[in-house]
Amino acid sequence: MTSRKPLIAGNWKLNNTVAESQALAGAIAAHVGDGLACDVVVGPVATSLTAVAQTLQGSAVGLSAQNTHWEDSGAFTGELSPTLLLDAGCGYCIIGHSERRQFFGETDAGVRKKVAALLVHKLVPIVCVGESLEQREAGQTLDVVLGQLEAATDGLDAVALAPLVVAYEPIWAIGTGRTAKAEDAQEVHGAIRAKLAELKGESWANSVRVLYGGSVKPANADELLAQPDIDGALVGGASLSASDFIPIIDAGARRAES
Ligand code: PGA
Repeated sequence: MTSRKPLIAGNWKLNNTVAESQALAGAIAAHVGDGLACDVVVGPVATSLTAVAQTLQGSAVGLSAQNTHWEDSGAFTGELSPTLLLDAGCGYCIIGHSERRQFFGETDAGVRKKVAALLVHKLVPIVCVGESLEQREAGQTLDVVLGQLEAATDGLDAVALAPLVVAYEPIWAIGTGRTAKAEDAQEVHGAIRAKLAELKGESWANSVRVLYGGSVKPANADELLAQPDIDGALVGGASLSASDFIPIIDAGARRAES
């Protein structure tokens, strides 16, 4: 169907001690082994990254941070940098999650600087975009989402952006149990791909994985992942238990094989 390898990523948000993170990562690694038809990534809290990297050694499960600063080092109290994330064993970093935009002042300009810094260090940015309920009801979904996308990639070319992953996460679907209908999600994913093509060329756009996020569960994963432009999932709540996350991983592998 597509040459894009599906990606199932777990965003653990502010949850799990080091021991809990390692136990969860260990259960996922045992399932994934040395690789499946889809890529699998987990995103623990920063204090668990190094320990989880050890747990994941020898498995194909990738490790993601949930945020970074754009500078490598210096007088930036409380921040982490791409260099430190690499040092901790990360291969990915979630950027621009709506919770960071809403509660921690993340701006489009900041997202763009973080994306550029991650790419320099060969870390894969998972850039989140998405509209609020008010924006959806006002018919502004595509303006908001495509605007966020344009800002995040501004001034970067398709070569630099080759590893980019986009996650479309309608804010009203995050943690609410309200998933976007698969066809509605596909409509936005299709528009995202068309915008990527307009911005940086069609061949790059066709290679970019666009994940869906917002109340993805074992029960709705297959339907979402059957859509032509939904290349995976960014999973919050359901990534916190192996018994929910593993069936979503398996749905990702089924997409690859379909
Ligand atoms: P959710 O979160 O799966 O709990 O809705 C998704 C996310 O915020 O990435």
